[in-house]
Formats: sequence, structure tokens, C-alpha cells
Amino acid sequence: MLTAACSNPNAAGPFNSPGGKIYLSQCAGCHGAQAQGGVGPPFDAAGHAHHHSDAELAQTTTEGIARPGQPATMPAWRDRLTPQQLSQVIEFMKLLWTPEQRAQQQALNPQ
Ligand code: HEC
Repeated sequence: MLTAACSNPNAAGPFNSPGGKIYLSQCAGCHGAQAQGGVGPPFDAAGHAHHHSDAELAQTTTEGIARPGQPATMPAWRDRLTPQQLSQVIEFMKLLWTPEQRAQQQALNPQ
């Protein structure tokens, strides 16, 4: 029933995309249920993820970030996401950005 889907604001949108589902199950615990940030930085339009190219976002996600002495570190997802899942989760982040941020980030990627 289409009316049911339309009356539920959560039925569609970024968090219901393939990458959004991966995000909710694997990343939201640290980056926030709305990607607003937590122990990890935000991925929404208020964050700065759009200052990184796709390759940089993928690299950080696969390799992780270890900072000795910090309360939380970014785990390495190398063995836990397929290449397809990795690009899906990056595409999900882009759905949270403004059109200007998407254009700005797109310009960082090799054409
Ligand atoms: C255990 C907590 C935790 C989980 C789970 C986690 N992260 Fe992180 N993430 C962090 C922390 C903490 C940082 C900041 C590291 C730093 O810069 O010191 C970070 C940073 C990042 C960055 C760099 C962001 C930027 O703007 O520089 C990316 C990209 C990222 N995470 C992606 C992901 C993705 C994708 C997932 C899910 C597959 C994920 N993270 C799951 C804790 C986590």
C-alpha cells in the first residue's frame, strides 16, 4: 500500500538505502543514529566528511584510525565490508549533504 509508505517518514530516505542500512547496523553506534556524530565525527551536512574524496573516505573506513591515548578509535572495516558495501555506505553519506556539499565533494574525485 503506497499510502502507508507515504505516511511513514522513515519508510524512505537515506537511512533506508542499502548504505543507510549498513550504516545503522555497523556505524551508528559511534557516528550517531542520525549520523549527527557521537564518539566519532558526524557525516551529516553539519560535519566535514564532504571535504574528503571518495578514496579518502574509503581508505579511512577500511584502514581505521588509531590514535593512542584517545578514548575511541575508528576501527578498520577491511574484513567486514565488501567493496560494494563500502561504496554503498559512502553513497549513503552523500544523501545527507546539501547539493552544494555534494558538488564540492564530487570535484575532489577524479573525473
Ligand atoms: C567504535 C566506534 C566507531 C565505529 C563503530 C565506527 N567509527 Fe568511524 N570513526 C570513529 C572515530 C572515533 C573517528 C575519529 C577518529 C579520529 O580522527 O581520531 C572515526 C572517523 C571516521 C571517518 C573519518 C571522518 C572524517 O570526517 O574525517 C570515517 C570516514 C568513518 N569513521 C567511517 C565509518 C564507517 C563507514 C563506519 C561503519 C562501517 C564507522 N566509521 C564505524 C569511531 C567509529
